[in-house]
Amino acid sequence: MNSEIIPLKRVSTPRQGSGRSPAKLILMGEHFVVYGSPALAIPVPALMLSVRAYQLGPSMSIPVRTEVTATARERPGVESIPASSHLLSCRDLACARLGLDPDELGISVESSIPVGAGLGSSAALSVAMARALAALAGLAGDTETDHLVRSISLDAEKLAHGRPSGVDTEVCLTERPLLFSTHQKPSPLSEKKPSRLGFLVLDTGESASTAEMVERVAGFRRASFARFESLQAETSECVTQAAFALERGDHHDLGRFLGLQQQRLDEIGVSTPSLERLVEQALDAGASGAKLSGSGGGGVVVAVCSISDMEKVRGRLRDRAIAAFGL
Ligand code: PMV
Repeated sequence: MNSEIIPLKRVSTPRQGSGRSPAKLILMGEHFVVYGSPALAIPVPALMLSVRAYQLGPSMSIPVRTEVTATARERPGVESIPASSHLLSCRDLACARLGLDPDELGISVESSIPVGAGLGSSAALSVAMARALAALAGLAGDTETDHLVRSISLDAEKLAHGRPSGVDTEVCLTERPLLFSTHQKPSPLSEKKPSRLGFLVLDTGESASTAEMVERVAGFRRASFARFESLQAETSECVTQAAFALERGDHHDLGRFLGLQQQRLDEIGVSTPSLERLVEQALDAGASGAKLSGSGGGGVVVAVCSISDMEKVRGRLRDRAIAAFGL
């Protein structure tokens, strides 16, 4: 783990600190981003995770260390807050970097982000925990603090799944649509999604481990290196074009790029019959394009349409007993 020592300006020593983070949705470029392609992702402020950290007073004889208040929508077979082991690892890592004693702290977490859905619950936890503990440590919201929070969040994500590209934490931190790449400064896009675009999120209700899906893709790459390189080159071009389509608010073009990327994700082995079925249903219901979002193996599909068609598409999905969350 990469620890750095940064001279920090402590403004006070408050007895509690809080931090929040939105969920994120990857529109294009997941998996290939790990190997250097760009990825296009947006924050989902309607789904939030908050952490409150507080110093336990000397009179508190029972050190309540971690109290989890979960409001996240339940998905079968998963905890509604990222696994408590990850929660404790995040806490311990942030405490070590900020000079805090985890045994003297109470932490409470509240979240509406479904876990294992590809919506970035673990990145949101990493970011919100780093923010809350930095605030508890009395750090000012200045550039050095931002830099430290970014570095702690990314290290916490490494604990969760080994080799994160950083796209999830970056969107959670900046809370802006981003064109992200591992070897360039991320380009924030217009602050708001164009008002002409509607996004629908359809959940398979199934979960997969990000680490396992990243490893599956690594296996495909080892076995078919030339093919992977070619898919990666196509992805890079497609993601850049999709970012232009997003900025223009062009749901036809964006939908076409989503569809092309879904085929590539299927080829590298991260789609599933349930994801394919939801993509098909979204298209049948009138979406301009749809693909899986996040690490795949389960999780969610994102579909795009014009904002004026969104309720119609959603209604048709509802008629087929498919719930869709609108953005
Ligand atoms: O874990 P998820 O579903 O949020 O997906 C992470 C995105 C990947 O590209 C698969 C991994 C990464 O670190 O970029």
